[in-house]
Amino acid sequence: MKSVNVIRPNLNLKQTDMQRVPYLDLPAQYNGIRTEVLRALEEICESARFAQGPATANFEAQFAEYCGVDHCVSLNSGTSALHLALRCLDIGPGDEVITVGMTFIATAWAMSYAGATPVFVDIEPVRRTMCPAKIEDVITPRTKAIIPVHLYGMPADMDAINAIAARHGARYRGTRVGQFSRIACFSFYPSKNLGAYGEGGALITNDASIAQRARWLRDHAQRDRYLHDEIGYNYRMDSFQAAVLAIKLKRLDEWNAARADRAAYYNELLANSTYKLPAHVSDSECVWHCYVIETAERDRVRSELLDGGIETAIHYPVPVHLQKVYAHLGYKPGDLPVTEALCQQCLSLPLYPELSKDRMFTVASTLRELERRH
Ligand SMILES: Cc1ncc(COP(=O)(O)O)c(C=O)c1O
Repeated sequence: MKSVNVIRPNLNLKQTDMQRVPYLDLPAQYNGIRTEVLRALEEICESARFAQGPATANFEAQFAEYCGVDHCVSLNSGTSALHLALRCLDIGPGDEVITVGMTFIATAWAMSYAGATPVFVDIEPVRRTMCPAKIEDVITPRTKAIIPVHLYGMPADMDAINAIAARHGARYRGTRVGQFSRIACFSFYPSKNLGAYGEGGALITNDASIAQRARWLRDHAQRDRYLHDEIGYNYRMDSFQAAVLAIKLKRLDEWNAARADRAAYYNELLANSTYKLPAHVSDSECVWHCYVIETAERDRVRSELLDGGIETAIHYPVPVHLQKVYAHLGYKPGDLPVTEALCQQCLSLPLYPELSKDRMFTVASTLRELERRH
């Protein structure tokens, strides 16, 4: 075991005296890609291909290749991607879709937009993603899909989840669901590992007919120009976002490796503390969207870190099944105990490729100091 020297920051110092640690530092990332980004944006302005031009087609081809799938449909947000995924599977009123309460509200919005009913299950405490053992309890004849969420960058237990989907015999156009996920959705919100300079999202699939339908639906459901057989949307990604994303995609593996390296450093600095650290799951490669510790004293710890100039975040303070907007579904506190405990105790520490080890040391030593004082 490596020993860690712990400095004791003076927590009474004014914020200006401390080394400020922002939760995110996107300008630092921009510094490294500035010339390339500005050149690409200028090209779009000069060509005036602002929408559905070569930039989006290029990004779609690159992202499909990166993900190892046949089709990528670029969209204007992750929420749009989830909504279109349900529309492409003809999920609507009377249908139920299973997801987790431990997610951002948009997962459930997509179901509500489609007219379907969200059904929430608990997470398992190690991965902190959908608990496969809880899924069968809530499957009914109306269940049409499962949307697991790879929370914090940790993949959900897809083998187990797909096996359950397959066991329940769901078929889509003759193919059993569960052999693979039919559709995966991404958000490129600026703070994500792959973040646009505005809004962005995508869905990927190996099913050509799903990809085609999604392309129609995102463009006002125009199969032919100005002809509309069903309700469509304006969910297109604009060229600026596609150009920025293509530039960033080239660096994504390197950036994710830098995140993993920093996560390992936090693990080392905070080993044997009272804070519960993210678990290592040997069959999965986490992309470390967030580094989330758990502590019963979360709100106090968070506010004292902020006094020391260290910004943190909470993903998420209230689980979706207990949000007022879904009160009519009848969930109550205690229904999803692992989810609810995590919502009360989770604290996301700053973690990004540009974060210096020096600053990480400040974060960890401040946490150690808070631990000693209480
Ligand atoms: C799990 C999850 N689903 C959906 C979304 C929505 O994505 P967007 O903000 O791009 O619409 C987010 C974005 O934060 C998310 O974290």
